[in-house]
Amino acid sequence: MQTAPKVVGTLEALKEKIESKTARVGIVGLGYVGLPLAAEFAKAGFTVTGIDVQDSKVAGLNRGESHIQDVPSSEVAKLVREKRFTATTDFSVVHDLDTINICVPTPLRKTKDPDMSFIVSAVEAVAKHFHPGLLVILESTTYPGTTDELLLPTFEKLGYKAGTDFFLCFSPERVDPGNPTYQTYNTPKVVGGVTPACTEMGRLFFSQALQTVIPVAGTRVAEMVKLLENTFRMINIGLANEMALMCDGMGINVWEVIDAAATKPFGFMPFYPGPGLGGHCIPIDPFYLSWKTKQSGIEARFIDLAGYINGNMPHFVVDKVQTALNNHGKPVKGSRVHVAGAAYKRNIDDMRESPALDIILLLKKRGAIISYSDPFVPELRLDGTSLYSEPLLESAARADCVVIVTDHSDFDYKGLLDSAKLIVDTRNAMKRFQSEKIVRL
Ligand SMILES: NC(=O)c1ccc[n+]([C@@H]2O[C@H](COP(=O)([O-])OP(=O)(O)OC[C@H]3O[C@@H](n4cnc5c(N)ncnc54)[C@H](O)[C@@H]3O)[C@@H](O)[C@H]2O)c1
Repeated sequence: MQTAPKVVGTLEALKEKIESKTARVGIVGLGYVGLPLAAEFAKAGFTVTGIDVQDSKVAGLNRGESHIQDVPSSEVAKLVREKRFTATTDFSVVHDLDTINICVPTPLRKTKDPDMSFIVSAVEAVAKHFHPGLLVILESTTYPGTTDELLLPTFEKLGYKAGTDFFLCFSPERVDPGNPTYQTYNTPKVVGGVTPACTEMGRLFFSQALQTVIPVAGTRVAEMVKLLENTFRMINIGLANEMALMCDGMGINVWEVIDAAATKPFGFMPFYPGPGLGGHCIPIDPFYLSWKTKQSGIEARFIDLAGYINGNMPHFVVDKVQTALNNHGKPVKGSRVHVAGAAYKRNIDDMRESPALDIILLLKKRGAIISYSDPFVPELRLDGTSLYSEPLLESAARADCVVIVTDHSDFDYKGLLDSAKLIVDTRNAMKRFQSEKIVRL
């Protein structure tokens, strides 16, 4: 252990800086989570430095160009002009910062084990330029124990003590890209520190820019909160998907069943089936939990089962397309299938883990000729080739079958009904139409 310089009055000094908004805020990782957070603190009156490893993102931001749909370029340009926000790839700026929020990716390895490499590399880079009085908050979704087991020893090895010399918290991110009602500032923020003083510092920090802050007993509780939220969604979507399979077998409209059940004013919350899970959270985060619990001998059986059911949905959709074509006297091989919507959910441009990718690949394997439309995704790279978004109605008219994978609001569904020969609807986007052309999930 190194011997750190004696730190006097760190807690009071940092509190004073946060309350007077003179604390210099650093955000590591400027993606879907980090950039909206940086913008929120800059708008609240702080001077914010964003740190990212991608030169192109950093250069774009410094030119006032946003790469995140929820943060308009006009907003970034204004914050850059007013010197409230700047971006860099150089971690040495940590020397001059008072707070650091780490918002780097936490993907899974092929084996479904957590890939902690982004967190490790960000934490090591921060540690190189660490100084007393720093508040560090991890926001990346991860398994319970990460903050205590990975971040705390890295910083304490430098000779500083958490809760007095520096402050360390975990705060789960709840950003919901494209949500028109809940954005970063009005989504309640949970925070837990490694000591009560850390929790209090985290609470004080977030409450300067965000509407509601919920302090919890520690970092493990805060880490587990996020995993409960996302596991809850994943399992309930798995149940809705299994319901869809059962209803399909019995000739029952699952959408009608769910809508009717949702009229119960208590004890029921609707979840809907779909073509499969997508995004950087729901298909991934629960496996961080199952990986960790396995180490204590506990099998996360709900997670495994929901993962299996959700993972099979693209296959089920492709079977539906094939059956629908066959019922119209066409083999899938050589048929033109147009995919309406490629992003993993409505009205956003995020392609990460999108089920559209699996569906396209599976259809191609069966010999279908694929085109797609997505107003948010102009180009798709798949298997080393590129597909380009086409106008929906013209392509639908040429296709033997249209499969609605993402129900973007901008699509002309009435026009689609008129121009398409056959529609497999995985989102109930054609709910208001009755037609023999429509095959629902
Ligand atoms: N996207 C969401 O809707 C969402 C919601 C809640 C939680 N999360 C979680 O938040 C975390 C970040 O997700 P995201 O969607 O913002 O990811 P993202 O890929 O959009 O952004 C991450 C950014 O971090 C940068 N980065 C990678 N390694 C770095 C390093 N060592 N130092 C600095 N920058 C680095 C990348 O270049 C990228 O710009 C993940 O753990 C994710 O699970 C995401």
